[in-house]
Amino acid sequence: MDQMLRAQDVTFSYSHEQHKALDGLTAQVERGEFVAVLGANGCGKSTLAKHFNAILLPVSGMVYIEDIPTTDEDRLLEMRQKVGMVFQNPDNQIVATVVEEDVAFALENLGVPPAEIRTRIDEAMKMAGIYKHREKAPHKLSGGQKQRVAIAGVIAMRPDCLILDEATAMLDPIGREKVMRTVRSLNRDHGITVVHITHYMEEAAMADRVIVMSEGKIAMEGTPKEVFSRVEEVKALHLDVPQSAELCHALTEAGLPMPVDVIDVDECARALYKAITGKEAGECPQS
Ligand SMILES: Nc1ncnc2c1ncn2[C@@H]1O[C@H](COP(=O)(O)OP(=O)(O)OP(=O)(O)O)[C@@H](O)[C@H]1O
Ligand SMILES: [Mg+2]
Repeated sequence: MDQMLRAQDVTFSYSHEQHKALDGLTAQVERGEFVAVLGANGCGKSTLAKHFNAILLPVSGMVYIEDIPTTDEDRLLEMRQKVGMVFQNPDNQIVATVVEEDVAFALENLGVPPAEIRTRIDEAMKMAGIYKHREKAPHKLSGGQKQRVAIAGVIAMRPDCLILDEATAMLDPIGREKVMRTVRSLNRDHGITVVHITHYMEEAAMADRVIVMSEGKIAMEGTPKEVFSRVEEVKALHLDVPQSAELCHALTEAGLPMPVDVIDVDECARALYKAITGKEAGECPQS
């Protein structure tokens, strides 16, 4: 497989006295993958994200963006262009007073010719679903729309990989859903590799692969079904599982055997119908 990001035995501390924020961590993200990163507060998710964008450099071990070691200072601009970051607070990421100017900001700073900027920002605003708001003032938009403006600004740089560090944390459910739909389409339709750090298990359930961190290390790794079927282990790491996995687990414990790898609502409803009636949900007139 084609490697997009790789952390090899990475250790990092913010100061000499401090404990290790990353502690011998090894992880890889393949090109085109959608990886969710989970973990309790302070376990090192943001620190890892900043290593994947060469904002931080490991104290020991190596980080690679494609095949470029992040210690290669001469290629810093290239690395930052390849891996775009979107952070939690949309207000901190918006700099201009008109949406399209905001999306163009980084390209203007890089000295990209105006005609090229026009093409790239129009493309990026369409991909992020905010093209119709292009002439509006960002402060008049909802949190979810602002976050999609921030995503468009990053996409305009034509990155290979997008890292979202709790980019949905401050949004209402509708804003979150629209941002997730945008991110999923960037991944599936445009081949952009996605690393999505989140506290929402339902969002992690959409990923190809889930990485669970604990105390600067990787504690669990696998497909969402593999990870979320290990309910007790996930809970021991102070995390939840998606509600449907939780329900199936509780029903099984209570004596109604349910499949162990259910992570979404429709699947859960079908399994429940079958467990109660003995029939497939397809036979149910409402389904
Ligand atoms: N700038 C900093 N200076 C000193 N220590 C820091 C700094 N940033 C993070 N840390 C510490 O490093 C450890 C890992 O922090 P990090 O922000 O990577 O965790 P996180 O998993 O992203 O947490 P959260 O879910 O709260 O965002 C924590 O103990 C944190 O207190
Ligand atoms: Mg964080």
